[in-house]
Amino acid sequence: MSNEPIKLEAVKIEREGDVTFLILNRPEKRNAMSPQLHSDMCEALDWAEMDDQTRVVVITGAGGNFCAGQDLKLFFRANENDPKAWAVTLRDSHAWRWDKLASFPKATVAMVHGYCFGGAFTPVIACDFAIAADSAIFGLSEVNWGVIPGGLVSWAVTRVMGYRDALYYAVVGEQFTGKEAVAMKFVNKSVPLDQLRDETIAFARKLSAKSPAAVKYTKEAVRVVRDMNKEQAFDYLKVKSDALSLNDPEKGRQKAMKQFLDEKSFKPGLGDFKR
Ligand code: COA
Repeated sequence: MSNEPIKLEAVKIEREGDVTFLILNRPEKRNAMSPQLHSDMCEALDWAEMDDQTRVVVITGAGGNFCAGQDLKLFFRANENDPKAWAVTLRDSHAWRWDKLASFPKATVAMVHGYCFGGAFTPVIACDFAIAADSAIFGLSEVNWGVIPGGLVSWAVTRVMGYRDALYYAVVGEQFTGKEAVAMKFVNKSVPLDQLRDETIAFARKLSAKSPAAVKYTKEAVRVVRDMNKEQAFDYLKVKSDALSLNDPEKGRQKAMKQFLDEKSFKPGLGDFKR
Protein backbone atom coordinates (compact mmCIF):
# COMPACT_ATOMS: atom_id res chain seq x y z
CA MET A 1 0.00 0.00 0.00
CA SER A 2 1.23 3.49 -0.86
CA ASN A 3 2.52 5.56 2.03
CA GLU A 4 1.03 8.74 0.55
CA PRO A 5 -2.21 10.01 2.13
CA ILE A 6 -5.20 9.83 -0.20
CA LYS A 7 -6.52 13.08 -1.72
CA LEU A 8 -10.11 14.03 -0.98
CA GLU A 9 -12.35 16.95 -1.87
CA ALA A 10 -13.66 18.04 1.55
CA VAL A 11 -11.13 16.44 3.90
CA LYS A 12 -7.40 17.13 4.05
CA ILE A 13 -4.97 14.57 5.45
CA GLU A 14 -1.69 15.72 7.02
CA ARG A 15 1.03 13.71 8.70
CA GLU A 16 3.15 14.62 11.72
CA GLY A 17 5.24 11.43 11.90
CA ASP A 18 2.98 8.73 13.29
CA VAL A 19 0.20 11.23 14.11
CA THR A 20 -2.29 11.77 11.28
CA PHE A 21 -4.56 14.81 11.09
CA LEU A 22 -7.91 14.37 9.34
CA ILE A 23 -9.02 17.93 8.67
CA LEU A 24 -12.60 18.94 7.79
CA ASN A 25 -11.83 21.18 4.88
CA ARG A 26 -14.61 23.60 3.93
CA PRO A 27 -13.24 26.65 5.75
CA GLU A 28 -15.34 29.12 3.75
CA LYS A 29 -18.45 27.37 5.16
CA ARG A 30 -16.92 27.00 8.65
CA ASN A 31 -16.48 23.30 7.79
CA ALA A 32 -20.22 22.66 7.83
CA MET A 33 -20.74 19.00 7.01
CA SER A 34 -21.96 18.38 3.45
CA PRO A 35 -22.77 14.94 2.00
CA GLN A 36 -19.36 15.04 0.26
CA LEU A 37 -17.59 15.73 3.54
CA HIS A 38 -19.37 12.82 5.22
CA SER A 39 -18.40 10.46 2.42
CA ASP A 40 -14.81 11.76 2.46
CA MET A 41 -14.50 11.29 6.22
CA CYS A 42 -15.64 7.67 5.87
CA GLU A 43 -12.89 7.17 3.30
CA ALA A 44 -10.30 9.04 5.33
CA LEU A 45 -10.93 6.98 8.47
CA ASP A 46 -10.83 3.72 6.50
CA TRP A 47 -7.53 4.84 4.99
CA ALA A 48 -6.03 5.86 8.38
CA GLU A 49 -7.10 2.58 9.95
CA MET A 50 -5.12 0.60 7.36
CA ASP A 51 -2.17 3.01 7.15
CA ASP A 52 0.80 1.42 8.93
CA GLN A 53 2.44 4.75 9.74
CA THR A 54 -0.63 6.14 11.54
CA ARG A 55 -0.66 5.46 15.27
CA VAL A 56 -2.94 8.28 16.41
CA VAL A 57 -5.67 10.12 14.49
CA VAL A 58 -6.46 13.76 15.24
CA ILE A 59 -9.78 15.14 13.92
CA THR A 60 -9.89 18.90 13.44
CA GLY A 61 -11.12 21.65 11.11
CA ALA A 62 -9.40 23.98 8.63
CA GLY A 63 -9.35 27.76 8.80
CA GLY A 64 -9.58 28.28 12.55
CA ASN A 65 -12.88 26.48 13.21
CA PHE A 66 -13.73 22.91 14.08
CA CYS A 67 -17.15 22.64 12.41
CA ALA A 68 -20.42 24.57 12.17
CA GLY A 69 -22.52 21.38 12.27
CA GLN A 70 -24.52 19.88 9.45
CA ASP A 71 -24.65 21.97 6.27
CA LEU A 72 -28.19 23.35 6.36
CA LYS A 73 -28.26 23.77 2.60
CA LEU A 74 -26.47 20.67 1.30
CA PHE A 75 -27.25 18.18 4.08
CA PHE A 76 -30.87 19.16 4.79
CA ARG A 77 -32.44 21.29 2.05
CA ALA A 78 -30.80 19.63 -0.96
CA ASN A 79 -31.98 16.19 0.17
CA GLU A 80 -35.56 17.16 1.00
CA ASN A 81 -37.06 15.59 -2.13
CA ASP A 82 -34.51 12.86 -2.74
CA PRO A 83 -35.05 9.94 -0.34
CA LYS A 84 -32.25 7.84 -1.85
CA ALA A 85 -29.64 10.60 -1.58
CA TRP A 86 -30.92 11.31 1.95
CA ALA A 87 -30.48 7.66 2.93
CA VAL A 88 -26.89 7.61 1.67
CA THR A 89 -26.09 10.92 3.39
CA LEU A 90 -27.57 9.75 6.70
CA ARG A 91 -25.65 6.50 6.48
CA ASP A 92 -22.30 8.23 5.84
CA SER A 93 -22.97 10.95 8.40
CA HIS A 94 -23.64 8.42 11.13
CA ALA A 95 -20.93 5.99 10.01
CA TRP A 96 -17.92 8.26 10.47
CA ARG A 97 -19.20 10.48 13.29
CA TRP A 98 -20.03 7.55 15.52
CA ASP A 99 -19.62 3.96 14.30
CA LYS A 100 -16.17 4.23 12.72
CA LEU A 101 -14.76 6.66 15.29
CA ALA A 102 -16.16 4.96 18.37
CA SER A 103 -14.71 1.61 17.34
CA PHE A 104 -11.53 2.93 15.75
CA PRO A 105 -8.65 0.59 16.62
CA LYS A 106 -6.10 3.39 17.08
CA ALA A 107 -6.22 6.28 19.54
CA THR A 108 -8.29 9.28 18.39
CA VAL A 109 -8.18 12.89 19.54
CA ALA A 110 -10.56 15.74 18.66
CA MET A 111 -8.68 19.05 18.43
CA VAL A 112 -11.28 21.81 18.68
CA HIS A 113 -10.79 25.47 17.89
CA GLY A 114 -13.22 28.20 16.86
CA TYR A 115 -16.81 27.10 16.37
CA CYS A 116 -18.17 23.65 17.17
CA PHE A 117 -21.92 23.40 16.73
CA GLY A 118 -24.72 20.86 16.72
CA GLY A 119 -23.88 17.74 14.75
CA ALA A 120 -20.18 18.42 15.28
CA PHE A 121 -20.56 17.38 18.92
CA THR A 122 -20.93 13.74 17.86
CA PRO A 123 -17.39 13.19 16.52
CA VAL A 124 -15.91 15.16 19.45
CA ILE A 125 -17.63 12.73 21.82
CA ALA A 126 -16.86 9.64 19.74
CA CYS A 127 -13.12 10.44 19.80
CA ASP A 128 -11.26 8.92 22.75
CA PHE A 129 -9.93 12.30 23.84
CA ALA A 130 -10.68 15.95 23.16
CA ILE A 131 -8.43 18.98 23.51
CA ALA A 132 -9.89 22.44 22.91
CA ALA A 133 -8.60 25.96 22.63
CA ASP A 134 -9.61 27.99 25.69
CA SER A 135 -11.43 30.25 23.27
CA ALA A 136 -13.33 27.52 21.36
CA ILE A 137 -17.09 28.14 21.15
CA PHE A 138 -19.37 25.13 21.58
CA GLY A 139 -23.11 25.26 21.06
CA LEU A 140 -26.10 22.95 20.77
CA SER A 141 -27.75 25.47 18.50
CA GLU A 142 -30.50 23.21 17.15
CA VAL A 143 -33.15 24.62 19.49
CA ASN A 144 -32.36 28.08 18.11
CA TRP A 145 -33.65 27.07 14.70
CA GLY A 146 -36.53 24.94 15.90
CA VAL A 147 -35.22 21.38 15.82
CA ILE A 148 -33.85 18.89 18.37
CA PRO A 149 -30.19 17.83 18.55
CA GLY A 150 -30.84 14.85 16.29
CA GLY A 151 -28.75 12.03 14.89
CA LEU A 152 -27.06 10.78 18.02
CA VAL A 153 -26.26 14.20 19.47
CA SER A 154 -28.80 14.21 22.33
CA TRP A 155 -27.76 10.70 23.32
CA ALA A 156 -24.03 11.34 22.90
CA VAL A 157 -23.92 14.45 25.09
CA THR A 158 -25.27 12.50 28.04
CA ARG A 159 -22.35 10.05 27.66
CA VAL A 160 -19.86 12.76 28.61
CA MET A 161 -21.78 15.64 30.22
CA GLY A 162 -23.81 15.53 33.40
CA TYR A 163 -27.59 15.46 32.95
CA ARG A 164 -28.13 19.05 34.14
CA ASP A 165 -25.49 20.46 31.76
CA ALA A 166 -26.73 18.36 28.82
CA LEU A 167 -30.30 19.50 29.35
CA TYR A 168 -29.30 23.12 29.97
CA TYR A 169 -27.23 23.54 26.83
CA ALA A 170 -29.62 21.53 24.63
CA VAL A 171 -32.73 23.41 25.70
CA VAL A 172 -31.27 26.89 26.17
CA GLY A 173 -29.00 26.73 23.10
CA GLU A 174 -26.40 28.90 24.85
CA GLN A 175 -22.74 28.70 23.85
CA PHE A 176 -19.88 27.60 26.13
CA THR A 177 -16.13 28.05 25.79
CA GLY A 178 -13.28 25.56 25.73
CA LYS A 179 -12.49 26.41 29.36
CA GLU A 180 -16.10 25.81 30.38
CA ALA A 181 -16.08 22.56 28.39
CA VAL A 182 -13.25 21.27 30.62
CA ALA A 183 -15.17 22.11 33.79
CA MET A 184 -18.11 20.08 32.41
CA LYS A 185 -15.81 17.18 31.40
CA PHE A 186 -16.88 17.64 27.80
CA VAL A 187 -13.20 17.81 26.79
CA ASN A 188 -10.08 16.60 28.58
CA LYS A 189 -8.32 19.93 28.64
CA SER A 190 -8.14 23.35 27.06
CA VAL A 191 -5.06 25.38 26.20
CA PRO A 192 -4.36 28.81 24.70
CA LEU A 193 -5.12 28.78 20.99
CA ASP A 194 -1.50 29.37 19.94
CA GLN A 195 -0.45 26.21 21.83
CA LEU A 196 -3.28 23.97 20.64
CA ARG A 197 -1.51 22.16 17.82
CA ASP A 198 1.76 21.62 19.75
CA GLU A 199 -0.06 20.44 22.87
CA THR A 200 -2.18 18.06 20.81
CA ILE A 201 0.87 16.62 19.08
CA ALA A 202 2.72 16.24 22.41
CA PHE A 203 -0.28 14.38 23.83
CA ALA A 204 -0.60 12.22 20.71
CA ARG A 205 3.09 11.28 21.00
CA LYS A 206 2.45 10.02 24.54
CA LEU A 207 -0.18 7.73 23.06
CA SER A 208 1.91 6.59 20.12
CA ALA A 209 4.79 5.63 22.45
CA LYS A 210 2.59 2.96 24.04
CA SER A 211 1.95 -0.59 22.91
CA PRO A 212 -0.67 -0.27 20.11
CA ALA A 213 -2.37 -3.49 21.21
CA ALA A 214 -2.59 -2.32 24.84
CA VAL A 215 -4.07 1.02 23.72
CA LYS A 216 -6.62 -0.71 21.46
CA TYR A 217 -7.74 -3.29 24.04
CA THR A 218 -7.82 -0.78 26.91
CA LYS A 219 -9.99 1.73 25.10
CA GLU A 220 -12.35 -1.03 23.93
CA ALA A 221 -12.58 -2.37 27.47
CA VAL A 222 -13.34 0.99 29.12
CA ARG A 223 -15.86 1.92 26.44
CA VAL A 224 -17.78 -1.35 26.49
CA VAL A 225 -18.00 -2.01 30.26
CA ARG A 226 -19.97 1.19 30.78
CA ASP A 227 -23.07 -0.59 29.52
CA MET A 228 -22.52 -3.82 31.50
CA ASN A 229 -23.37 -4.88 35.02
CA LYS A 230 -20.58 -5.92 37.41
CA GLU A 231 -20.82 -9.66 36.65
CA GLN A 232 -20.79 -9.13 32.90
CA ALA A 233 -17.90 -6.69 33.18
CA PHE A 234 -15.84 -9.05 35.32
CA ASP A 235 -16.29 -11.89 32.85
CA TYR A 236 -15.75 -9.68 29.78
CA LEU A 237 -12.58 -8.11 31.18
CA LYS A 238 -11.06 -11.49 31.99
CA VAL A 239 -11.61 -12.71 28.43
CA LYS A 240 -10.48 -9.37 27.00
CA SER A 241 -7.31 -9.54 29.03
CA ASP A 242 -6.59 -13.09 27.83
CA ALA A 243 -7.29 -12.01 24.25
CA LEU A 244 -4.73 -9.20 24.50
CA SER A 245 -2.05 -11.56 25.80
CA LEU A 246 -2.74 -13.97 22.95
CA ASN A 247 -3.05 -11.40 20.16
CA ASP A 248 -0.39 -8.80 20.95
CA PRO A 249 2.17 -9.09 18.12
CA GLU A 250 4.74 -7.21 20.26
CA LYS A 251 4.27 -9.50 23.28
CA GLY A 252 4.23 -6.39 25.47
CA ARG A 253 3.32 -8.09 28.73
CA GLN A 254 6.20 -10.55 28.53
CA LYS A 255 8.65 -7.78 27.59
CA ALA A 256 7.47 -5.54 30.40
CA MET A 257 7.67 -8.35 32.99
CA LYS A 258 11.23 -9.14 31.92
CA GLN A 259 12.28 -5.49 32.00
CA PHE A 260 10.77 -4.89 35.44
CA LEU A 261 11.44 -8.18 37.24
CA ASP A 262 14.66 -9.46 35.64
CA GLU A 263 16.46 -6.49 34.11
CA LYS A 264 15.09 -3.89 36.53
CA SER A 265 15.25 -1.44 33.67
CA PHE A 266 11.82 0.21 33.99
CA LYS A 267 9.15 1.01 36.56
CA PRO A 268 5.58 0.35 35.32
CA GLY A 269 4.17 2.92 37.72
CA LEU A 270 6.23 5.68 36.17
CA GLY A 271 6.20 5.12 32.43
CA ASP A 272 6.20 2.80 29.43
CA PHE A 273 8.28 -0.34 28.93
CA LYS A 274 10.84 -0.28 26.09
CA ARG A 275 9.09 -1.50 22.97
N1 COA B 1 -24.73 25.16 7.14
C1 COA B 1 -24.60 25.77 5.95
N2 COA B 1 -23.81 26.85 5.77
C2 COA B 1 -23.17 27.32 6.84
C3 COA B 1 -23.28 26.76 8.11
C4 COA B 1 -24.11 25.61 8.24
N3 COA B 1 -24.24 24.95 9.39
N4 COA B 1 -22.51 27.46 8.97
C5 COA B 1 -21.95 28.44 8.25
N5 COA B 1 -22.35 28.36 6.96
C6 COA B 1 -21.98 29.23 5.84
C7 COA B 1 -22.74 30.55 5.86
O1 COA B 1 -24.01 30.41 5.27
C8 COA B 1 -21.80 31.42 5.06
O2 COA B 1 -21.96 31.10 3.69
P1 COA B 1 -21.92 32.28 2.56
O3 COA B 1 -20.52 32.83 2.64
O4 COA B 1 -22.21 31.58 1.29
O5 COA B 1 -22.96 33.27 2.99
C9 COA B 1 -20.41 30.91 5.46
O6 COA B 1 -20.61 29.57 5.95
C10 COA B 1 -19.78 31.71 6.56
O7 COA B 1 -20.71 31.78 7.62
P2 COA B 1 -21.01 33.14 8.40
O8 COA B 1 -22.30 32.96 9.14
O9 COA B 1 -20.92 34.31 7.49
O10 COA B 1 -19.73 33.17 9.37
P3 COA B 1 -19.56 33.72 10.85
O11 COA B 1 -18.15 33.44 11.20
O12 COA B 1 -20.07 35.11 10.96
O13 COA B 1 -20.53 32.80 11.77
C11 COA B 1 -21.38 30.71 12.61
C12 COA B 1 -20.22 31.44 11.92
C13 COA B 1 -20.94 29.24 12.69
C14 COA B 1 -21.61 31.27 14.03
C15 COA B 1 -22.70 30.85 11.80
O14 COA B 1 -22.41 30.62 10.43
C16 COA B 1 -23.79 29.90 12.22
O15 COA B 1 -24.51 30.19 13.15
N6 COA B 1 -23.89 28.73 11.55
C17 COA B 1 -24.87 27.72 11.88
C18 COA B 1 -24.38 26.91 13.06
C19 COA B 1 -25.41 25.87 13.49
O16 COA B 1 -26.44 26.19 14.05
N7 COA B 1 -25.10 24.62 13.23
C20 COA B 1 -25.91 23.50 13.65
C21 COA B 1 -26.25 22.69 12.48
S1 COA B 1 -26.52 20.99 13.04
